[in-house]
Amino acid sequence: KENVLILSIESSCDETAAAVVENGRNVLSNVISTQIEIHKEFGGVVPEVASRKHIENISDVVEEALKNANVTSEQIDAVAVTYGPGLVGALLVGVNFAKGLAFAWQKPLIGVNHIEGHISANYIEDKNLEPPFICMVASGGHSHLVYVKDYGKYEILGVTRDDAAGEAFDKIARAIGLGYPGGPLVDKTAKMGNKDAIKFPRVIIDEETLDFSFSGLKSAVLNYIHNSEQKNEKVIIEDVAASFQEAVVEVLAMKTMKAAKKKDCNTVALAGGVASNSRLREILQEQCLAAGYKFTKPSPVLCTDNAAMIGAAAYYKYLNKQFADSSLNALPNLEL
Ligand code: KG4
Ligand code: ZN
Repeated sequence: KENVLILSIESSCDETAAAVVENGRNVLSNVISTQIEIHKEFGGVVPEVASRKHIENISDVVEEALKNANVTSEQIDAVAVTYGPGLVGALLVGVNFAKGLAFAWQKPLIGVNHIEGHISANYIEDKNLEPPFICMVASGGHSHLVYVKDYGKYEILGVTRDDAAGEAFDKIARAIGLGYPGGPLVDKTAKMGNKDAIKFPRVIIDEETLDFSFSGLKSAVLNYIHNSEQKNEKVIIEDVAASFQEAVVEVLAMKTMKAAKKKDCNTVALAGGVASNSRLREILQEQCLAAGYKFTKPSPVLCTDNAAMIGAAAYYKYLNKQFADSSLNALPNLEL
């Protein structure tokens, strides 16, 4: 078949999303209904509230995705859905909805790993991108340094030993009073600050490993704020944001470049919510240019949670006939 159309659904956290993607690369529609305004009040995602909101929204979101793509259910070749990792109650909404559609429409069902989805956002952005490449996946829940050997074939080179990168951004944002979600606000605030103002530690763990760690940096920033307040010194939040951000992205970039060298791989990609960080994109761009590597990064809307990335990942499973059946279940701790 020449044009494979996949309807994809994503509900692993606080976005209810659906998309129609053609041949894994061409996005016909990408609908995202975010719950940020609701969770903001609580300073983070409340799982129970997220599940309920997904149930309220999913039907409209899917309908809109079909309408925006101008396709009917008959034209759809498969239904894809994120089945993990994520919040179990949130995942279940998408999984069950997708199962229902696949059954009603008599179409194959494809289960997609959320992290694999994030990585696959790069196929949408760069139509010529093919494995192998190195991908730094940094989101609110995960930080993985991955060697993408082939479509659907991954080798994890490094992981965070404590907090995910996005989690660190969110916690520091809260500490300096920026609100939720923290990443984009720290990014914006950092632009008005001096990244060299405060010397925060670069937590490299040891030189050999490709793992990373952010809890030490987080404590250093919290201590800095606490000590400044004790001494009645003014905390310049723009400088804290810029100096903290620099410490995170420098380590992420350094480990990514090291991974590329180790695997003798000259293509580097970014993925996940933190991949939309402007300073991370800038640093990696510079370093890849200097090393003669090709560098891809999804546009910001494809970095944070969306369903188009799930449709991109699902396409390669469709080609390999890797279909799920009605026993597909939500797996909150699914690994790549
Ligand atoms: O991928 P994502 O939408 O959801 C998860 O799978 O976790 O990532 C959300 C995370 C949040 O922690 C958010 O603060 C962070 O990505 N983030 C950013 C930026 N935009 C989103 N972190 C740093 N800079 C940004 N511009
Ligand atoms: Zn995500």
